[in-house]
This record gives sequence, structure tokens and C-alpha cells, in this order.
Amino acid sequence: MQSRAAEVRPAVDTDFPVIARMAAEDPGVVAHTAYTYWVLQAMAADAVLVVPDAGEGLAGYVVGVYPFQPEAALLLQIVVAPDRRRTGVGGALVTEFGRRAATRGCRRLLLTIDASNEVSEGFFHGFAEQRGWPLALAGSTGTLDGLLDPERIWELGLP
Ligand SMILES: CC(C)(COP(=O)(O)OP(=O)(O)OC[C@H]1O[C@@H](n2cnc3c(N)ncnc32)[C@H](O)[C@@H]1OP(=O)(O)O)[C@@H](O)C(=O)NCCC(=O)NCCS
Repeated sequence: MQSRAAEVRPAVDTDFPVIARMAAEDPGVVAHTAYTYWVLQAMAADAVLVVPDAGEGLAGYVVGVYPFQPEAALLLQIVVAPDRRRTGVGGALVTEFGRRAATRGCRRLLLTIDASNEVSEGFFHGFAEQRGWPLALAGSTGTLDGLLDPERIWELGLP
């Protein structure tokens, strides 16, 4: 099912506490502080993109770093509110992030996915297939000397 209104816009200050809460409530992602999301946005004015919902709520957000490597942006985190999943919000966020990355000369998005996160794997594979964006395994993050569970790095080619 596609989203009824996946309006995507850069985050504003009032969004950061909402984003931090959404991250904290989702067992599939690392919860950063509102301050960290604000800092990322201060470094690039559209590092954090959101789909607004009623009031000050958010249907979803994506956080990225562009460029992260030459010609590649990193999609750091994406979360869609549980009651808005499978309505195209995640796809709209990745599409807009990819569009903004491409305007900066990026040709691909890098994603790191924890092998145990089946939802994330399903989403990126489903999204890539639906859009015809090539998705390929590109390596592993390693463990950072045991600090991290290694995550697989995927490359999603931009159209
Ligand atoms: C991953 C996530 C962002 C997907 O957002 P979403 O808005 O539900 O995604 P979309 O509706 O755009 O889905 C697009 C396609 O991806 C695939 N997909 C999405 N969720 C899926 C799932 N749970 N299982 C299998 N495939 C899935 C489908 O092909 C889907 O198309 P369809 O609904 O027409 O079948 C959302 O499930 C989420 O926030 N999960 C928790 C946080 C997380 O794990 N984030 C990723 C790691 S940072």
C-alpha cells in the first residue's frame, strides 16, 4: 500500500525530541539523543528528513551523511512509526534522501544492516526491487575492536 501523503521535509528543532523518542522506543535501532540528531542537521541542513504526522508527531524520519565516501552517502538510520508502516513512508524517505544525495554528486547510498534485523533487510530488498535500484553487498563494518556487532554494508545504486 502506498502512503496517503508522504510529504518529506528537512527536520526542524521541534522534531528532534520526537525523533529521539521514536528511536528509543524501537528495539531495531540505536537510540541517539535529540542533541545528536540536531548536531547532524546543523552540519548539513537536510541530514535529517521527516514525514510529518498530526500535531507535532512524525510518521517517520531518515538520518544520513552526505557525502560519506567519494560519490557515496551513508543512510545512518530510518524509522517509521509502527502504525504507519507498509504504507510507503519508508520508501518516500529513502527516495528523497537519494535525490538529495544525487544532487551532491553521490551515485550510491551505503546502508549498514544488522544481519538479525529481518525487517530492515526485507525493506531495503523490497524497496530496491520495486524501484529497480541495484542493491549489492559491499562488505562489513567489522567490530571496532569488539565494540560493535559487525553489520553488513550494502550499496544501493541511485538512478
Ligand atoms: C524498515 C522500515 C523503515 C520500513 O518502513 P515502511 O514505511 O514500512 O516501508 P515501505 O512501506 O516503504 O515498504 C516498501 C517495501 O519494502 C518491503 N518491506 C517493508 N517492510 C517489510 C517487512 N517488515 N518485511 C518484508 N518486507 C518489507 C516491502 O516490499 C514494501 O512494499 P509493500 O508494502 O508494497 O510490500 C520500518 O519497518 C521501521 O521503521 N522498522 C523499525 C526500524 C528499523 O529497523 N529501521 C532500519 C534500520 S536503521
